[in-house]
Amino acid sequence: MAIQTIPTQVFTDQRPGTSGLRKKVGVFMQPHYLENFVQALLNVLNASDASNQALQGKTLVLGGDGRFYNRAAVQMILKLAAANGVARVLLGCGGILSTPAVSAVIRRRQAFGGIVLSASHNPGGPDGDFGIKYNAGNGGPANETLTEAVFARTKVLTELHLSNAPDIDMDRLGLQQVEHMQVEVIDPVADYAALMRELFDFDLLRGMFNRGFTLRVDAMNAVGGPYAKAILEGELGAPAGSVVNAEPLEDFGGLHPDPNPVNAQDLIAHMNAADAPDFGAAMDGDADRNMVLGRNFVVTPSDSLALMTAHATLIPGYKDGLLGVARSMPTSAAVDRVAKALGLPCFETPTGWKFFGNLLDAGRVTLCGEESYGTGSSHIREKDGLWAILFWLSLQGATGKSVQDLVTSHWLLYGRNYYTRHDYEGIAVEVANALMADLRAALPTLQGRAFGQRTVSLADDFAYTDPVDASVSKNQGVRLLFDDGARVIFRLSGTGTEGATLRLYLESYEDDPVHQNEPVQAKLTELAAVAEQVAGIRIRTGMTGPSVAT
Ligand code: G1P
Ligand code: ZN
Repeated sequence: MAIQTIPTQVFTDQRPGTSGLRKKVGVFMQPHYLENFVQALLNVLNASDASNQALQGKTLVLGGDGRFYNRAAVQMILKLAAANGVARVLLGCGGILSTPAVSAVIRRRQAFGGIVLSASHNPGGPDGDFGIKYNAGNGGPANETLTEAVFARTKVLTELHLSNAPDIDMDRLGLQQVEHMQVEVIDPVADYAALMRELFDFDLLRGMFNRGFTLRVDAMNAVGGPYAKAILEGELGAPAGSVVNAEPLEDFGGLHPDPNPVNAQDLIAHMNAADAPDFGAAMDGDADRNMVLGRNFVVTPSDSLALMTAHATLIPGYKDGLLGVARSMPTSAAVDRVAKALGLPCFETPTGWKFFGNLLDAGRVTLCGEESYGTGSSHIREKDGLWAILFWLSLQGATGKSVQDLVTSHWLLYGRNYYTRHDYEGIAVEVANALMADLRAALPTLQGRAFGQRTVSLADDFAYTDPVDASVSKNQGVRLLFDDGARVIFRLSGTGTEGATLRLYLESYEDDPVHQNEPVQAKLTELAAVAEQVAGIRIRTGMTGPSVAT
């Protein structure tokens, strides 16, 4: 075994997006592509103290969602880590760790940080996507200062430091060695399961299953499977087979592991069938997202966050109440109404989980959520799919109400925020940029303008000043806020790997119970027409409608 220094050429496209560096597998498989990014990361981490050897004596956590290239990437990262001074790596057995589990392990074991190999909900396999992101010592996604520093480093990188040690056996639990670096292969589920036991009343949940409660959890052939099986079936006694598509596959078995009603159609069909189980749920590629359903009833993520907030004290982990709540800007304002009623601080952040980190660390919020099927709490610094499933199970167990009952009685009390997101995928980048630039230029003319019965009370480009560190994030999305509580929001995705994706978010508020059970898309057609009128999406893109509407 020896540590080698190898010259390398710069790649100019390694700027991390909303959630780490994501590219097509083919891009990652180019010689030195992964190596360069990891080397730049390790250089930046080492430079975080004056010695320039900040990783000396430190532990990193490593694991991924099991997608194609996960295993090769693990071996490569170990060789780089060993050559760059890392003392110890905690590696999920088989190279497997869900995103929430990485966060949990970093925090429980007080690691310096962790590397997650995942492109989240993006498709996998040789023609799919791969991704890598760094989580800091708080267990949360690296902040923008760090990701920008890594990007800057990738542009001037000249050499790699790499061990030529043989591959380790990542399927064998216990200690191994790469150079002087210790690799401990750990059970991917154990730390995470211990954390869930601290938050939820497992006896209550066991009792539910004993009395015949049924559920179907679709892990979409992704990394959530082993966690859901071990906890729901193994520990809580849910009937065998309650967790389906439970084995992580390199290509997710061809499924698109993005839990929404469009991609999880099989689950929707089961929940709409005559013999539907009491509760349904799905998770995404790295198990940080969740979709929850009742019989013939889909819960929107924005409503999910609002209901969790309203009922949090029923859960042991939150029985003393919440410090505050946060949602991303495009997420519906349903939670704001609950926060107001409960007297809780409520924060509106830009899209991406990293913006919740400071609020959680500073003890300003306990729950956070995004419209994109992500909810989480201060137990870790990532959103957490299985945690959300356990939360909703607990709500049903504690109240004895069905999912549909819980949600419709919530609407009666707080009103309903009708909500949809329209994605226009694969737009030419120039077209998308021009559309956003023109919208921004038109903001002054939109302010105060009337559309039918509604008037725009605020037209702006969302900017956020972090209340903890005062950092400012600009250009986070164009917002049209109307006088009746409706909102139309435009932003470009920061996680796609092909062209640009325009996301259009539509929301209207309905406090009249007579009108709270209407079809969502129909209810929002008028706002969709406003969006079309001001942005000209169809004319500019040549698309006749959104690629996906959820
Ligand atoms: C998307 C979601 C966002 C989420 C991110 C990572 O980002 O919209 O809420 O945090 O994935 O899971 P986007 O593609 O919109 O930048
Ligand atoms: Zn994810």
